[in-house]
Amino acid sequence: MNIEFSGKVALITGAGSGMGLASAEAFFEAGASVVLSGSHFEKVNEQADRLSAKGKTLALQCDVSEEAQVKALVENTVKKFGRIDVAYNNAGWMPPYMEIAEASTEDFIRAHDINLKGVWLCMKYQTRQMLKQGGGAIVNCSSMGAIVGVAGRTSYCSTKHGIVGMTKSAALEYASKGIRINAVCPGVIDTPMVSSMISTDPAVLNALIDQVPIKRLGRAEEIAQAVLWLCSDASSFVVGHSLVVDGGITVQ
Ligand SMILES: NC(=O)c1ccc[n+]([C@@H]2O[C@H](COP(=O)([O-])OP(=O)(O)OC[C@H]3O[C@@H](n4cnc5c(N)ncnc54)[C@H](O)[C@@H]3O)[C@@H](O)[C@H]2O)c1
Repeated sequence: MNIEFSGKVALITGAGSGMGLASAEAFFEAGASVVLSGSHFEKVNEQADRLSAKGKTLALQCDVSEEAQVKALVENTVKKFGRIDVAYNNAGWMPPYMEIAEASTEDFIRAHDINLKGVWLCMKYQTRQMLKQGGGAIVNCSSMGAIVGVAGRTSYCSTKHGIVGMTKSAALEYASKGIRINAVCPGVIDTPMVSSMISTDPAVLNALIDQVPIKRLGRAEEIAQAVLWLCSDASSFVVGHSLVVDGGITVQ
């Protein structure tokens, strides 16, 4: 299967590291013009520069929990490239491991602001643009934490379950208008988010790997391939789906 995005415009949030960056690289390699956005401009700007000196990438600062910034992100993308064919709403934050009795309410709110409200705001402004131009594809980043519960992660799992519900509902609103909306649910993937969990104790890493039937962590590029497929015409009949890419961890 040859998945190709020549002449297409891809917008990615949280593109400075991990799966967002791997997806930006994959869209770029597949021929797309790519907007790398993130809450820290320097981080996404460095990656945009590294990928392309030929004007096919653009770095934009955007905190996805801030409506004015998301609106500006979509407007500035359209100002530079004229349209948004595909969007990967990847930005996310995981609060520290904590059982609910001890968890911080501020962390609960922050996780919902970034992960849930952020995806909602992105879809709000992306669908407005896609309706104007006559179609597009959106993929939201959920998690295996939307398929199963994870002790110590109630806030995070709440946001990721919510993303699956929003994805299904928004997909129904726009399926007949040429906009396909789906989600990806990664398992445990080797990114900065997971390194921060395991760096202090190698035993934690081994215990994690032991739970995965395929006996390794996922790679960011493996999620990027799923995202590209969901955004491509190869998945033209896939609507409102949450694609689990997790080395088998949730089928046990
Ligand atoms: N790594 C995993 O095992 C795993 C598993 C399932 C789901 N996820 C999800 O994958 C997505 C990407 O995470 P990752 O693992 O690549 O880690 P990561 O920490 O490398 O990526 C998260 C990115 O989001 C950005 N970000 C955080 N808050 C933001 C905000 N308010 N506005 C804009 N950008 C913001 C960060 O700067 C970072 O670049 C997240 O949504 C995460 O919840 C990760």
